[in-house]
Amino acid sequence: MATPNPFEQQRPIPKVKHIIAVSSGKGGVGKSTVSTHLALALAKRFKVGLLDADIYGPSIPRMLGCLKQKPAITPEQKLVPIERYRLKIMSIGFLIEEESAVVWRGPMLFKAMDQFLRDVEWGELDYLIVDLPPGTGDVQLSLAQKVPLSGAIVVTTPQNISLIDVKKAIDMFQRVQIPILGIIENMSYMVNPSNGEKIQLFAKGDLNNYIQEKSFKKLGEVPFNPSIGVASEAGIPIIESHTSSEETQEFTRIAQKISEILPV
Ligand SMILES: Nc1ncnc2c1ncn2[C@@H]1O[C@H](COP(=O)(O)OP(=O)(O)O)[C@@H](O)[C@H]1O
Ligand SMILES: [Mg+2]
Repeated sequence: MATPNPFEQQRPIPKVKHIIAVSSGKGGVGKSTVSTHLALALAKRFKVGLLDADIYGPSIPRMLGCLKQKPAITPEQKLVPIERYRLKIMSIGFLIEEESAVVWRGPMLFKAMDQFLRDVEWGELDYLIVDLPPGTGDVQLSLAQKVPLSGAIVVTTPQNISLIDVKKAIDMFQRVQIPILGIIENMSYMVNPSNGEKIQLFAKGDLNNYIQEKSFKKLGEVPFNPSIGVASEAGIPIIESHTSSEETQEFTRIAQKISEILPV
């Protein structure tokens, strides 16, 4: 008997136009920060959902100030996403305590992803942004097998230590025929508050050469700004509180590019 092709399970989510994966090789490079701000920037003009699929470290409920909220359940047994800043949000963080560890393995992960995609009342969405765990494991594979992704965005910091993992993440997406929408360089530089000069916090590696060589798109360069961290801890993202900051403008430009690559 032939082995069934797992990609044959792939089904769209009804009424959801584009599903976009946000990934990184490494943890701590700002993937959740980028997913959240990108989703918020898109939500100014479109109907947007944000799925926190980082089951090992769900950070989106905290970043969006909705940590203690519990999703309602419809009579059809579907979870109702929590709404903040016009975004529909779902996260494992709503369903478990913040301190508890998730120890699920393969089959349970596949089941959990299924529930996040199928058993949530997403409604009509132009974009569903999925914040993936770092790396190239079961959650990434499970997402790719279950739904047709419009594309993936890879987040990195400037250094070569992160670039190695970027290459792995890109390789994974290409193996499963998911288009790479582009790369976002986070903590790219910092603006000196006293004179506006750019400070290179992390040494620039070969990222730009790699992007050029492979003809990928660099979607943007997000500066390091301590306010991002403070605002995230407070649950009020800078895009809502510092509307004219350089970071807010950059996220707005990135959202514009995404909407041009994937029109609705
Ligand atoms: N551009 C930035 N400027 C300042 N702090 C940032 C920036 N991007 C991310 N951070 C901070 O770095 C930490 C890791 O970011 P996070 O988005 O949680 O990373 P990941 O999801 O990749 O693990 C958080 O404390 C976050 O607030
Ligand atoms: Mg994260």
